[in-house]
Amino acid sequence: MTTAKSPLHIEEIARPTHDELARQHFVSSLRKQVMIDMAGQLKNLYTRKIEPNLRIKLKRPILRSRDIRRAMLEEPFFKSWSALRYAAQEMTWWSVQPQVERNLPELILAAKRIARSKGPGSLRLNSKLPIPKDVTRMDIHLMPGCFHTEHEADDVAAGAVYWHGTSVFSAGLKLRHKNGGVARSIAEYLKIAHPDFKPQRMLDIGCSAGNQLHPYLDVFKKCEGYGVDVAAPLLRFAHARSRNMKYNIHYSQQNAEKLDYPDNHFDLVVSSFFLHEQSALTNRNILAEAHRLLRPGGVMVHMELPPSSECDPYYDFYLDWDAYYNNEPHYAGFRKLDFAKECYMAGFAKKEFFSRRIPNYGTVSNEEFSESARGERPAPQHGNWASWFIFGAFKT
Ligand SMILES: C[S@@+](CC[C@H](N)C(=O)[O-])C[C@H]1O[C@@H](n2cnc3c(N)ncnc32)[C@H](O)[C@@H]1O
Repeated sequence: MTTAKSPLHIEEIARPTHDELARQHFVSSLRKQVMIDMAGQLKNLYTRKIEPNLRIKLKRPILRSRDIRRAMLEEPFFKSWSALRYAAQEMTWWSVQPQVERNLPELILAAKRIARSKGPGSLRLNSKLPIPKDVTRMDIHLMPGCFHTEHEADDVAAGAVYWHGTSVFSAGLKLRHKNGGVARSIAEYLKIAHPDFKPQRMLDIGCSAGNQLHPYLDVFKKCEGYGVDVAAPLLRFAHARSRNMKYNIHYSQQNAEKLDYPDNHFDLVVSSFFLHEQSALTNRNILAEAHRLLRPGGVMVHMELPPSSECDPYYDFYLDWDAYYNNEPHYAGFRKLDFAKECYMAGFAKKEFFSRRIPNYGTVSNEEFSESARGERPAPQHGNWASWFIFGAFKT
């Protein structure tokens, strides 16, 4: 219960009305229907009809996802599935916008009050920072205004929409496990696979609303967190949330290609769902910057969808959906990169590169997770959020 002494946390301010909540439940269920039930039917259609026909037509095995895409574009079921998925994606943001708009003055006041309050962590904004074209030129994930747009002074709307929207996005799929998710899984993996590695200072690049930083600090209790992003409204929201919850995290508005921290400053540099939104050239700069910032013995870990080289042609085709319909134009090209080569070009020694799947910490038993982290059993196949694909390198 909230009293005068315990002000609302920022994510509790913009509450939905009864009807808005009902709409959000509908959108979450629709996403589940599209991403699990209908996606299964699409795969069946491919296996039973499209693949055999395509083999006859091509007179060779199907090795390229673009052959599958071409055939799928002729299929009414694929078109309906894709249109529904697109609609569900748009509705995700629309379903939370009214509650954010209605409560925006209060959200802004709360973020300002928390930023002025004493507490751990800090917020550094730079209103002169040029926002990269890859962020401004289209609404990534179909989120209106993308991450960076500000409608008024001290705006936090994009942060609140992103925070509440991702909750609707994942609710039907049960992705928000109390003790699971990407960051928790990576942190637990590092702890088991590298028991001597105890980071004191870590950086999350493209940290958005701070979704992923808290779980790292829950696992590495003595670690100080840093988060960078180019979008001020997300950072204001992230900072208010973290300070409210007493996490020691320093947020700052910077471009991950060129950061203002000194060399060898961090033990751990991470990102999640981030690199695929960048061009190949930008990614080279970001990886080189991560190398500069890590101290010898430190490690960089990125979570992404698995590269094309790790997928069968159908799954490769399936994962490319976002590149065509979700305003993530670099996605398909990114998944074709050779990550080992990219890390090497950024300065990491070849032998220090790693890539692997790790189980989602929230969905497997502790025993299964530990065995998998120690390399004694394989992680579950990628798909339906059973496991995460990570790659990275230690700095020598
Ligand atoms: C998909 S979101 C990342 C999501 C977040 N890491 C998570 O796991 O929930 C991508 C974020 O990267 C930020 N971004 C894009 N380009 C950037 C850059 N060059 N430097 C820093 N942040 C950037 C965007 O503003 C956005 O918040």
